[in-house]
Amino acid sequence: MRRPPEPSSDHPSRRAVIGAGAAIGAAGIAPVASAELPATAGPPASVIEMTLQVNGQSHRLSLDTRTSLLDALREHLRLTGSKKGCDHGQCGACTVLMDGRRINSCLTLAAMAQGHEIQTIEGLGDPDHLHPMQAAFLEHDGFQCGYCTPGQICSAVGMLAEAKAGWPSVVTADLASRPALSDIEIRERMSGNICRCAAYPNIRAAIAQVSGTDVSGRDA
Ligand code: FES
Ligand code: FES
Repeated sequence: MRRPPEPSSDHPSRRAVIGAGAAIGAAGIAPVASAELPATAGPPASVIEMTLQVNGQSHRLSLDTRTSLLDALREHLRLTGSKKGCDHGQCGACTVLMDGRRINSCLTLAAMAQGHEIQTIEGLGDPDHLHPMQAAFLEHDGFQCGYCTPGQICSAVGMLAEAKAGWPSVVTADLASRPALSDIEIRERMSGNICRCAAYPNIRAAIAQVSGTDVSGRDA
């Protein structure tokens, strides 16, 4: 029977490793038992009762105070229309309306939404009664995979309300007058909503139709 090869001088022998461990113990550096590690890396969970008003309905929930509005909608109320793209406020897929204003629900704590009316894509319309923005997205093929679409539509609805209220954008030239929704205005105001399928020309066409803006002849 062949004997196993002797350990080379490049590799520590089993005896040397055990010896080193003993030396560490003798020096007072005790190994940490797994039972001594804290159960979680973060602070302990704190659960509170809260009431969320979503799409005209009141929901009583017991949630960890750290729960985002997006997770409350998707994981607890099963309203999965709002999407989680980045969870960092960078893609806009989670956009919903709070008291008519668009917000990133991934950056909003559920507890902060108490006392406000939340509207998600499910509350804007349904297949039999589409919101005009939903109908325009259908008409103009304003989507491909559709992942960003609920956020795009909620954002577009909120954006039109902002423009109607006279809110300027960074590309608004005349700050003294009510901003006209030109193509460049729509581009800028929707820049927080990313579409990985790059359906931007069709998205803008849909928004322009609802806003009454003429953006014909423009490319992406
Ligand atoms: S998931 Fe909220 S901005 Fe991306
Ligand atoms: S349609 Fe696919 S991400 Fe926008």
